[in-house]
Amino acid sequence: MAQQQFGLVGLGVMGQNLALNIERNGFTVVGYDRDPQKVEMVKARMAGKNIQAFANGAEFIAALNPPRSILLMVPAGEATEAAINELLPYLVPGDVLIDGGNSHFQDTIRRGKTLTSRGIRFIGTGISGGEEGALKGPCIMPGGDPEAYRLVEPVFTKIAAKVDGEPCCAYMGTGGAGHFVKTTHNGIEYGIMQLICEIYDFFRRGLGLSTPQVREIFNEWNRAELGSFLLEISALVLGKMDPETGQPLVDLVLDTAGQKGTGKWTAQTALDLGVPVPTLAAAVEARILSGLKGERVAASKVLPGPAGPLGDGRDELIAVVRKAFYLGMLACYAQGMALMREADKEYGFGLNYEAIARIWRGGCIIRARMLEEIRQAFGREPELVNLLLAPEFAPAVREGQAALRQFVQAAQQAGVPVICSAATLAYYDSYRSERLPANLLQAQRDHFGAHTYRRIDKEGVFHTNWS
Ligand code: 6PG
Repeated sequence: MAQQQFGLVGLGVMGQNLALNIERNGFTVVGYDRDPQKVEMVKARMAGKNIQAFANGAEFIAALNPPRSILLMVPAGEATEAAINELLPYLVPGDVLIDGGNSHFQDTIRRGKTLTSRGIRFIGTGISGGEEGALKGPCIMPGGDPEAYRLVEPVFTKIAAKVDGEPCCAYMGTGGAGHFVKTTHNGIEYGIMQLICEIYDFFRRGLGLSTPQVREIFNEWNRAELGSFLLEISALVLGKMDPETGQPLVDLVLDTAGQKGTGKWTAQTALDLGVPVPTLAAAVEARILSGLKGERVAASKVLPGPAGPLGDGRDELIAVVRKAFYLGMLACYAQGMALMREADKEYGFGLNYEAIARIWRGGCIIRARMLEEIRQAFGREPELVNLLLAPEFAPAVREGQAALRQFVQAAQQAGVPVICSAATLAYYDSYRSERLPANLLQAQRDHFGAHTYRRIDKEGVFHTNWS
């Protein structure tokens, strides 16, 4: 019997690695890239494998038998739009088109409607895990046409990472669900990365530890409750020496962070939906602040701050930061999950948070030990409003909040910016406050704009002449 074919558009590194993964799992891959050089590279690299490559769209399509399954692995935005427009004239009703890039979920919703009206089945899927994940087993977050998903499920579940024998792939929901979950994943990714960076900075500048010392601590933490891909690679990065200078390479890397946009989309969508995600949003701000390198260099010579590293209590503070980081990480997942809950109400995706936590346990950038407990929490209570309230995490939250307070105070005392950690603490304290100063805010609004207010002691809507 002929092997099931799988079309792949975009033969960059991610596309090539996915092609190898798909082929290794017993499928025939038919690849296409407009760039003849990439096609030649694929032909040379993958000779002898069940992988064909074309630089011509018509030939690519002709090599695939309908109903076709075609995965697009091209940059989000214009390139994805162009690839869809290029393929569309060749596609026939029943063909399945899959966008595997980091597309905005609103684009995916729009494309889904257009393609469905032409009989083309559309899937928007998040694929996480970088180059290595693509090759060895990524986490796959597909959404869109459920019938189409059934057709590609055998391929997706085979190529995905496995945890306890379970594939890190599940149907996320209708419309733009897959890309929404992936965007939220990236928002969480931004948050955890920045939390780690702040701890590194505090250890270096606040406690005066060396890069190898910080690496040791991260390695130790990674072996227990904080075990996670991002902590693991941070330790690896800190251990890499520059062959030219003999110094840790990370110390020579320019301190301005780039971003492709998914973290920003998470924050923007959260604002649109009215969901607080201060840790995730602060991570985007931190990247933007890092980009003000010239201004920062100038300001560093003018603006005063506290002098030097903190003196005492190093070991105690390291232990405190460990607990604080746990709560910080948990808050990232909590904010992401809360955002998805609200988006689900608005867009009717039909998300399943237990399934999301389950597939995030492997293959993806935010995989971490605590996701198993997060999965259990949502399994027990699918309607859980906020992860911080889950009994599974009660002891860690209790200890973590005291630790986070101590860490943020110590960092502030040392003048080390901890924008994400401080935002997490403020989120925690706001969330646990029965009463917030929004009473004064409402009164201010009523004073200058007659926006009215409600009272806590009687029903009704009121306006006062406050002067
Ligand atoms: C992943 C990553 C991947 C990429 C993002 C973030 O899950 O494999 O999230 O998609 O790293 O594009 O990139 P930026 O940091 O440039 O926004």
